Amino acid sequence: MSETVKKKIAELRNQIRKHDYNYYVLAQPEVSDYEYDLLVKELEQLENEHPELITADSPTQRVSSDLTKEFKSIQHSIPMLSLSNTYSEEELLDFDKRVKSGLPDGETVEYVTELKIDGVSVSIKYVDGMLQSAATRGDGTVGEEITNNVKTIKAVPLKVHMDQRGKYNLQSFEVRGEIFMAVDAFNKLNEERVKNDEKTFANPRNSTAGTLKLQDPKIVASRPLDIFVYFLLSESEEFNSQSENLQLLRDLGFRVNPNYKVCKSINEVLEYCNYWESKRDDLPYEIDGAVLKVNLLSQQKMLGSIAKSPRWAVAYKFKARQAITKLHKITWQVGRTGTLTPVAELEPVFLAGSTISRATLHNLDEINRKDIRENDTVIIEKGGDVIPKVVSVMTDKRPQNSKPVVVPDKCPVCKSTLYKPEGEVAIYCENTKCLAQVKGNIIHFASRGAMDIEGLGESLVNLFVALGFLKSYADIYKLKDRRDDLINIERLGEKSVDNLLDAIERSKDRTFSKVLFAMGIRFIGAGAAQKLVAHFRSIDSLIKAKPEEIEEVHEIGPSISNSVKLFFSNKKNQEILEELKEAGLKFESEDSGIKLDEFVGKIFVLTGTLETMGREEAKEKIIQAGGKAASSVSKNTDFVVAGENAGSKLDKAVNLGIRILSEEEFLNMLGNK
Ligand code: IVH
Repeated sequence: MSETVKKKIAELRNQIRKHDYNYYVLAQPEVSDYEYDLLVKELEQLENEHPELITADSPTQRVSSDLTKEFKSIQHSIPMLSLSNTYSEEELLDFDKRVKSGLPDGETVEYVTELKIDGVSVSIKYVDGMLQSAATRGDGTVGEEITNNVKTIKAVPLKVHMDQRGKYNLQSFEVRGEIFMAVDAFNKLNEERVKNDEKTFANPRNSTAGTLKLQDPKIVASRPLDIFVYFLLSESEEFNSQSENLQLLRDLGFRVNPNYKVCKSINEVLEYCNYWESKRDDLPYEIDGAVLKVNLLSQQKMLGSIAKSPRWAVAYKFKARQAITKLHKITWQVGRTGTLTPVAELEPVFLAGSTISRATLHNLDEINRKDIRENDTVIIEKGGDVIPKVVSVMTDKRPQNSKPVVVPDKCPVCKSTLYKPEGEVAIYCENTKCLAQVKGNIIHFASRGAMDIEGLGESLVNLFVALGFLKSYADIYKLKDRRDDLINIERLGEKSVDNLLDAIERSKDRTFSKVLFAMGIRFIGAGAAQKLVAHFRSIDSLIKAKPEEIEEVHEIGPSISNSVKLFFSNKKNQEILEELKEAGLKFESEDSGIKLDEFVGKIFVLTGTLETMGREEAKEKIIQAGGKAASSVSKNTDFVVAGENAGSKLDKAVNLGIRILSEEEFLNMLGNK
């Protein structure tokens, strides 16, 4: 009996794997969704009845039911390099010259050109043909482990096509590629988010990155993630060329982008780049350029790498896509610090996968410099980044009665008089009770990176402010007394209210430096908050400090010290602080706070791998002890801490005569704390 069951299970798994491959990798399904679902159900049922037969590579094991508590750091056994960019034909020709001058005279060079997929890079490790772990790029040396999330992507094989390993010794290897979301799938996801009153993603790349950071693999599995892979790396096997490597990846069952080309000359490369630059909108996914790689691995080896990028590959970045449209009106948005930002309200126009109806104009200087006026015809551009901008005005299309922009003298939200500080480009609404500021401050307080209160986004904040439940962010902690009122709000319901109240309770655990950042004091970003906390340890000593004492902190200047003084001298802010203290938020730093003389004001650079701690932890310790952690070595560096396999930073430090510390010496300096 059990032999028959085993056989049946193996058969079902193979069938499902084959259908996954046909559907997700080849995009050539052979069965209907219905037939496929029947197979999955049958397998699930058999595995339920015989849980002892479940294996990690079963197609039912793609979606783990465990939540990821925190993303662990993972050290890449082979660093994940990045590419240097080129932006013109000329720069590409220069690259070709550099490559040739790095090789023996007269040697010919072939380039493999590939599309540069605009997503998130990933490294996936296989041992004995089975997916073992997956990680983000991180800083190239250490990334975050996202295995459970990557396993949900059906185009990623849990087990490679073993019969295709053929002549290669592939006991263990890593596959590098780009995870992305197709444009249609991304738009659909955003439409659903609008319906559910959730924040939309700005572009497919952000949506991919956001999804990979989710802690619940079930939600990740419901998102349309996809992958193209472009490298197979193995310490035990040598390959001849990049094109052979891509073919091998295909044979093993991976999804390789079919639009790569082996080019015999740089002219063919240029043709490839121009062709795809003009065709990029015909592709179902976003690309932001092309990548060219020297094909022969023997030549790649000769060329080697500098710092973080190889000398044998380069990216050719496409120009930002532009569109022409009409600017109907200029409106002014009030931010959380009261700054007014002009916004162009545009005739909706389709550009790079989405419809654009607004663009930021940054500030008044920008408007004046480009002479942007209402009713102008403008050229807009959407770069790799989120917010579209107005590049220029087509003045020949300007209507005759056109007039320069009139700067408002009253806040568009609260109607109070505006203020423009001498020498600054910005205009401010100074009324701290202005609803735009109140809402903006609460949204910032609850956002990721600050108090990270899940579920308390823009639309709920707007609603709660309108209902009078929130007058300041301190009121967030009083929402629990209004549970009944909240449940009565039509779109909320009991479960989501309880989830929200839970999330609010949990936010009380955030560190003091997150709290300080969340308070939204002008000029205090997350980094400045960390430095102030490392120095002052408690809110009371920060408040008591004289401006000149605040400025003693490394990289903290008068604008921050004045802002701190101004904020805490305000009576309303003092009350809010008391309320937050009462709610139980942290206003003291938890660690010992002992400054170490040898560290104060000194600049440290870390290189190589430390045995006893990760890089981030080491940086934190340096900062806590009063030092500063920099990322590159210069003559201002005081110490370089060199771990295992230290690289070029160590060489540079030696050349500059900078003091090098072993891990042990470093720990001794810290007093092993
Ligand atoms: S090769 C050492 N090939 O672009 C070579 N990268 O910095 C490293 N990307 O981090 C990457 N498509 O996320 C390569 N066909 C492709 C790519 C590609 C997209 C991304 C990747 C990398 C970044 C370049």
